[in-house]
Amino acid sequence: MTKLQRIFKNGIINRYTENEIKKYKERMEELNQIHTSKLQMEIHERKRAEEIKTEALNETRILQKEIMEIAEKERQRIGQDLHDGIGQNLTAVTFLIEALREKMKDYAGYMIYDIDEIDNLVRKSIIQTRSIAKVLSPVEMNKSGLYSALSEMASTIEKVFNVSCEISRRGNFFIDDNQAAIHLYYITREAVTNAIKHGRAGNIHICLTSENSILKLMVLDDGTGCKENEMGSGMGLRIMKYRASMIGAEFFAKNRTKKGFEIKVVLNVEKPVPVINVNY
Ligand SMILES: Nc1ncnc2c1ncn2[C@@H]1O[C@H](COP(=O)(O)OP(=O)(O)OP(=O)(O)O)[C@@H](O)[C@H]1O
Ligand SMILES: [Mg+2]
Repeated sequence: MTKLQRIFKNGIINRYTENEIKKYKERMEELNQIHTSKLQMEIHERKRAEEIKTEALNETRILQKEIMEIAEKERQRIGQDLHDGIGQNLTAVTFLIEALREKMKDYAGYMIYDIDEIDNLVRKSIIQTRSIAKVLSPVEMNKSGLYSALSEMASTIEKVFNVSCEISRRGNFFIDDNQAAIHLYYITREAVTNAIKHGRAGNIHICLTSENSILKLMVLDDGTGCKENEMGSGMGLRIMKYRASMIGAEFFAKNRTKKGFEIKVVLNVEKPVPVINVNY
């Protein structure tokens, strides 16, 4: 083969190869486009499914929140009616008894003991009514806020159970939403009850902190801590988690490193987290 023939032959081969490469590239591009649009469709469908799921969750969450709020309002109403209605009436009766005792002091004789007994009973009833009202409507957030409601709870716990129950606050911990404050109140109360009932704790610390837009509520105890398989045995932790999810907060419960148990509720006031599945 002459040099000229070789050059000619190579030229034909090169052109053939270039054509093949071009066709191959075009095919690749075509396949790529098909694949990309399939992928885009899949992504779109997944996104839509995700959106539908989020919408459904949000709707459920709104409904659950409404139900809880209605129930809570009803409890508050009954509590306040008890306190302001029957409670006030009974207080008025004690004044009447006092006045009656004064009027009859010269000729009541042994009847004074009956008056004392009535007085005692009425005063006991006032205490009972107050404590029932307090359970039903524990937090008057509008007047005093969560911190003072929790402080009051802590001092009652100390007196009744003979344990140390300390409360501290760091930063500007302020909850605007009354319902959210009530949820946090009940979460704390359950955590404190658990610390005494299960952990036999001697020291309980309720800790409220606020940093940037993150509010944290912690209840720490120095009790026995919890065996892992016992966490899901009751209603309390589940309800705490549920309450946290109702206000868009995260909930954590675990044994402390050295001794005792802790629960933590973390609320980002600027960006609430989506509803949490309660799976304890
Ligand atoms: N502070 C704690 N210290 C030790 N164990 C705890 C503590 N908190 C919870 N636990 C454990 O977790 C379990 C579940 O607690 P949870 O509050 O859910 O239920 P409960 O207190 O047993 O019953 P309920 O709250 O429904 O009356 C408890 O039985 C206990 O074993
Ligand atoms: Mg409990």
